[in-house]
Amino acid sequence: MARPEANRRRPLIPMRELRAMPSPPRPDHAVVIEGLAKTYAGRRRQPAKTALAGVDLAVPRGSLFGLLGPNGAGKSTLINIMAGLVRKSAGRVTVWGYDIDREPLAARAAIGVVPQELHLDPFFTPREALELHAGLYGVPPARRRTDEILAAMGLADKADSYARSLSGGMRRRLLIAKALVHDPPVLVLDEPTAGVDVDLRQHLWAYVRTLAARGTTVLLTTHYLEEAEALCDRIAIIDRGRVVACDTTRALVGRLDRKTLLVTVDAPLETLPPALAALGAELVDPRRIALRYRPSVTRVQDLLDAIQGAGVVLLDLTTEEGDLEDAFLALTRPGDAAAA
Ligand SMILES: Nc1ncnc2c1ncn2[C@@H]1O[C@H](COP(=O)(O)OP(=O)(O)O)[C@@H](O)[C@H]1O
Ligand SMILES: [Mg+2]
Repeated sequence: MARPEANRRRPLIPMRELRAMPSPPRPDHAVVIEGLAKTYAGRRRQPAKTALAGVDLAVPRGSLFGLLGPNGAGKSTLINIMAGLVRKSAGRVTVWGYDIDREPLAARAAIGVVPQELHLDPFFTPREALELHAGLYGVPPARRRTDEILAAMGLADKADSYARSLSGGMRRRLLIAKALVHDPPVLVLDEPTAGVDVDLRQHLWAYVRTLAARGTTVLLTTHYLEEAEALCDRIAIIDRGRVVACDTTRALVGRLDRKTLLVTVDAPLETLPPALAALGAELVDPRRIALRYRPSVTRVQDLLDAIQGAGVVLLDLTTEEGDLEDAFLALTRPGDAAAA
């Protein structure tokens, strides 16, 4: 079916039905995804595009879960399906125990989604936007926490300014605030820190941790390994519509066990000394040598000894963590990763 799906408006949740819903269970897993597939229909000579090719994922209740993957991996598609914004092609999704097909209202009420794109109505103030949103979700006035949420997101000063006067960072905070008005047990943040300055990033991270500490299950997507590592207790890596790894952060980062030692030498080299070539070193340019190693099995000292033994004099050195591309390579070549 060729129709724009991603931008379809979320239908309102009728208050009466929401109140009639059973009180939320406490499932072991806040989100369970089985065999999830999505192929976007081709439009205007574009071929059909498979964004998800059979994803299985279980997000334990109370976890801070990272969905990590490069651009185009399928992260937003997965999240938009959970949020009821994109229709899946196949598979099963439950949010807080509610099947998104059979109990879509309950599933939607259990989740707050902060979209990747900054869509805001410029003519509402933050306070109005939150009140309106609370109304859509059937939160009675006595149970609204508008001021508390505005304060938590650092928007108290701007509560009554038009959204169009807010900076990009403030808009992002307002989107997070909107996702929180109905106090969902599951909060989903799609690339929360993309294009956000360092201060705001720290603020958001701290707030996400606070929510998680209070028991909210948080699922966030990112293409920064560093961000997933700093925030999440579990990470799933998704690449080209498939989950290539899913583990605790500690175990996963352990498996990534790769660093590069980059040294600058005092005299230009035409070729690598054989002893360094034997270690798999690379001449990046005549003055720089890169040595990849696994911190769990090789000490930097051993590498330095080898460099010195080869008669090379160092001017400077740095080490680099493996980047995300390396991480994917390591994880999609199991034999390789197991050798670490
Ligand atoms: N509405 C759409 N129509 C067609 N293709 C889409 C649509 N949305 C996303 N895609 C494609 O699906 C793939 C996954 O996209 P997306 O889920 O946005 O990935 P991510 O969020 O990980 O960057 C990409 O190849 C993207 O171009
Ligand atoms: Mg995305």
